Amino acid sequence: MLEVIDKLYETRHLTRDEWVALIEAQRSEERHHLTQKGAAPSTDAADGPLTAYLFERARAVRRQRYGDKVFIRGLIEISNRCRNDCLYCGIRRSNECAERYRLQPADIIACTDKGYELGFRTFVMQGGEDPFFTDEVLCPLIERIKANHPDCAITLSLGERTRESYQRLFDAGADRYLLRHETATDAHYRRLHPSELSLATRKACLSNLKEIGYQTGAGFMVGSPYQTVENLADDMLYLDELQPQMVGIGPFIPHRDTPFRDHAAGSVAQTLFFLGCLRLMLPASLLPATTAIGTLDPQGREKGMLAGANVVMPNLSPPENRGKYLLYNDKLATGCEAAEHLRELDRRFAAVGMRIAVDRGDFAG
Ligand code: 5AD
Repeated sequence: MLEVIDKLYETRHLTRDEWVALIEAQRSEERHHLTQKGAAPSTDAADGPLTAYLFERARAVRRQRYGDKVFIRGLIEISNRCRNDCLYCGIRRSNECAERYRLQPADIIACTDKGYELGFRTFVMQGGEDPFFTDEVLCPLIERIKANHPDCAITLSLGERTRESYQRLFDAGADRYLLRHETATDAHYRRLHPSELSLATRKACLSNLKEIGYQTGAGFMVGSPYQTVENLADDMLYLDELQPQMVGIGPFIPHRDTPFRDHAAGSVAQTLFFLGCLRLMLPASLLPATTAIGTLDPQGREKGMLAGANVVMPNLSPPENRGKYLLYNDKLATGCEAAEHLRELDRRFAAVGMRIAVDRGDFAG
């Protein structure tokens, strides 16, 4: 299998059969390690020769492109109101237990001012698909943040919108957009989403974003319900075709007030493996070690860096709202992932040979 990793490193492409074989090889390595230890599920970054080899290559590629820099993004969760009803998500419309909130533009501006002081040069406005955030509300807000902080990048993560809306937000000054594709298999997409959402629409949004000129991020959940090895292979093939500048992946984590409450969480080891593969397939990509990895494993972020990631997104939302943006159970909100604790985060990354950069951290492809 090491020769398949060599091929990925050298050509940046694998066939579907090669992806399936590689994913299966990682799974059997993970299983083997589990039975050997006979203990709690392992989340170690490099549990066997295959992953150790992959991660070493991935780190070399990252170092060559981005040095030892970890790019930080100040994450502002602007609203947990959402018109969608995705079966996995804790802020789905029909979850009546969710305590809803929405930040006002003035609150968001205050977050960016505080973030700038802390050293952030990218702000991510993320939220559910809340009808309040029309272009008329967002455009002046984006313009205002850009005027206040001309050396900063703005990333939006606000779900599906029309091409015209994406264009207007881009013209107002937004630089990047995150929209995970969630799964690239049509039938699997339909099992995770209500019937009014479709993979075709999601892919059309991603193509529009790229064409308009956004640095675009796609991504998927690892270990989501009903996911097969073939689904994961197709996720990698789709990302190969799309060539996004950013890829966000994280383990699925069940939320108690969703239909998927009884499904198992995804594997941290498998998530790390995909981070390593993504670094080889898309060498210049910006790959976050996501909050979901950090939630399942206290050392998840460092392990993400060791697998090839180069981005973290500390929470910059007003502290009183942080506990409410609950996509899944036990989501981290007040520890090291909080923006106020950058110094501690930096110390932890130093231990794995990386340092936080005060930098926009643009795509270097
Ligand atoms: N577990 C893990 N990730 C989740 N997301 C939503 N719900 C969950 C969950 N239960 C992810 C989706 C979405 C992103 C914002 O959060 O991939 O795109």
